Amino acid sequence: MIVNQEKTLAEKVRADFPILQRKVNGKPLVYFDNAESSHKPSVVLNALRDYYEQYNSNVHQSTHVLGKEATEAYEAAREKLAKFINAASPQEIIYTRNATEGINLVAYDWGINNLTTGDEIIISVMEHHSNIVPWQVVAQKTGAVLKFVELNENEEFNLEQFKTLISDRTKLVSILHLSSTLGCINPVEEIIAIARQKGSKVLIDTCQSLPHMPIDVQKMDCDWLVGSGYKMCGPTGIGLLYGKLELLRSMPPFLTGGDMVAEVFRDRRRRALCAIAPHTRICPISLKQEHRQLEMPSPLVQPLTTSAKLAWIKSMLMKQN
Ligand SMILES: Cc1ncc(COP(=O)(O)O)c(C=O)c1O
Repeated sequence: MIVNQEKTLAEKVRADFPILQRKVNGKPLVYFDNAESSHKPSVVLNALRDYYEQYNSNVHQSTHVLGKEATEAYEAAREKLAKFINAASPQEIIYTRNATEGINLVAYDWGINNLTTGDEIIISVMEHHSNIVPWQVVAQKTGAVLKFVELNENEEFNLEQFKTLISDRTKLVSILHLSSTLGCINPVEEIIAIARQKGSKVLIDTCQSLPHMPIDVQKMDCDWLVGSGYKMCGPTGIGLLYGKLELLRSMPPFLTGGDMVAEVFRDRRRRALCAIAPHTRICPISLKQEHRQLEMPSPLVQPLTTSAKLAWIKSMLMKQN
């Protein structure tokens, strides 16, 4: 008798996750809560361990071998991430702690500085709280009006209502791509095309879609996009903010201090070169390092797992090389 030894996809996937080897109530662990937080395959856990065992060091600062290796790995992961979502350049990738921080960065940095009384922000009723509350705060601070797209009879994004809601005063549309509560995939390319006609910027929340489907930001033509590492086999404490380069360039440094600083003066009258922090001369950055004005390298080790996690997702879940 010939026995087929080929492993099923489920067997292969299970073997990659140490946590799925444990038993709960005497039975092999079955886990369905990936939309909230995915488990971590061995390649990701190994990448974390490898960092601490081989090149534990700060990035962009230390001049010794370990610092150089950490910086190279940190920036190589940025390039992989850019490729993963087809960003035009790695400079368009900002590491954040999570998607919530990415949305808040846009809200506090771009929103507060660009919106004014009577401007409109459009979100939908299916958004996660992290794509609602920051806009409520921005609306309150700037006098902008927050509008909601309702669901249609199929419990999906009501595109027809959206068309009637959007106006020349709409400055931002911020919408999720895939809803984990409703299961629907929003027609983001259509939404963006409509927003463009009104001159509105668009932020897409891809927390739930990024782990499951190929995303092409150039095709999608969004202005910003956020995602979250721990929902796509990475550790907690790492998120992604993509932004079009020209737009990122127009956004002032978000968290001041640390990495954005070249020189700090006691007296702001001496050399006030940074509008948002007049005591500070900001880093004379090369074009390659522009993202550093918006990002603190605090989620340091987490980005280093990015290469491993993207490779695993592509080969196991998306079947790409
Ligand atoms: C659609 C969506 N947006 C945003 C978030 C918040 O993500 P984070 O925890 O990375 O801030 C979640 C988390 O469940 C989500 O599902």
